Amino acid sequence: MATRNIVTIDDDILYKRSRPVEKFDQRLWTLLDDMRETMYKANGVGLAAVQVGVLRRVVVMDCTEDHTGYLELINPEIIEKEGEQFENEGCLSLPGEVGVTCRPAVVKVKAQDRNGKWCVYKGTEMKARCFCHEIDHLDGILFTRRVIDNKES
Ligand code: NI
Repeated sequence: MATRNIVTIDDDILYKRSRPVEKFDQRLWTLLDDMRETMYKANGVGLAAVQVGVLRRVVVMDCTEDHTGYLELINPEIIEKEGEQFENEGCLSLPGEVGVTCRPAVVKVKAQDRNGKWCVYKGTEMKARCFCHEIDHLDGILFTRRVIDNKES
């Protein structure tokens, strides 16, 4: 495992759409392991592959403080959303930027695991925000586009 460099706002790649993963092979597993290490080292709660310069639909997440909620999402899609929440959000690719976004209160996601098996995940609160934030990254969208109140940034 190794950590990778996190790309920041000045890199055009962040605005590009990531391609689906088709091969569930060692190359993907190495990417996932590196992303996990990179996310924890940066004290992040989520990381999309595009943030380490790889345009594939791959996300790692962990919204817990004790690192017990680790998730890998390959080709994730939001299949249900409900309600609204307004909370502060930030991003490892936009150091120092914070803003209040509008996100669904409850989100259901379907995604493949590292072996290609489809699973369904449900999130509320921070986990719901994180699902939306990371899946946005795969479509080249940064959270600043979702900010409804810029006063605190
Ligand atoms: Ni982000």
